[in-house]
Amino acid sequence: MIKITIAIDGYSSTGKSTIAKQLAKALEYIYVDTGAMYRAVTLFAMRKGFVGGLEEDITSLCDDLSKIELRFKYNEALGFSEMYLNNENVEKAIRTLEVSKNVSRVAELQKVREMLVQIQQEMGKSKGIVMDGRDIGTVVFPDAELKVFMTASADKRAYRRYKELLDKGEKVSYEEVLKNVESRDYIDSHREHSPLRKAEGAIEFDNSDMGLEEQFERMYNFALRIIDKNKKDAN
Ligand code: DC
Repeated sequence: MIKITIAIDGYSSTGKSTIAKQLAKALEYIYVDTGAMYRAVTLFAMRKGFVGGLEEDITSLCDDLSKIELRFKYNEALGFSEMYLNNENVEKAIRTLEVSKNVSRVAELQKVREMLVQIQQEMGKSKGIVMDGRDIGTVVFPDAELKVFMTASADKRAYRRYKELLDKGEKVSYEEVLKNVESRDYIDSHREHSPLRKAEGAIEFDNSDMGLEEQFERMYNFALRIIDKNKKDAN
């Protein structure tokens, strides 16, 4: 059975995880949300007081990275894997606006990136994986057979995220969410290590005005075509 690697990168709240989950389900592949891993490290750093307080202590965070154990555990009822930080289910705790406000700062750190990239490459070494993030097609799996770069206008993305947070019961304003989306876009694409950019050979996908069904159909067809071609090449 020919399996490929699918790398989905793009700006925050472009719906990367939605499409990645759908593709993984349809192809019976593993899905990995790398943003959850950066968020879990950020939560660890916030709890220790290394970030998010009045003073940052990035050196101590880097010294403490060996104390972080990250694991995805599949939740049968939900149909997707949840993030565990040192054996604690942090799936909810990592999705708050507070974590979103600090995560780009933590994701800038080369030591954090090196640690997470190594784990991600290990997870994908047998292929049959859909991974989403910011550096999957550029750094983690530059040889992925299908690379996608997702974009959508900042206001559409902020609105989607705002609704998601309201649904989860967080009290946030649209303006606050838009500011966070714009500032993360800026930091993620201007940082020194592995800045967010379209990978070589990636398909650019703007879903500002596209429904979920159409988006899935298109991506699924891209994937099937590539799998088919690989099958033919292998024969
Ligand atoms: O996908 P997300 O919004 O949950 O990601 C949270 C943050 O993590 C995002 O602002 C940038 C960072 N990130 C990263 O630098 N590299 C990745 N592969 C995934 C996420």
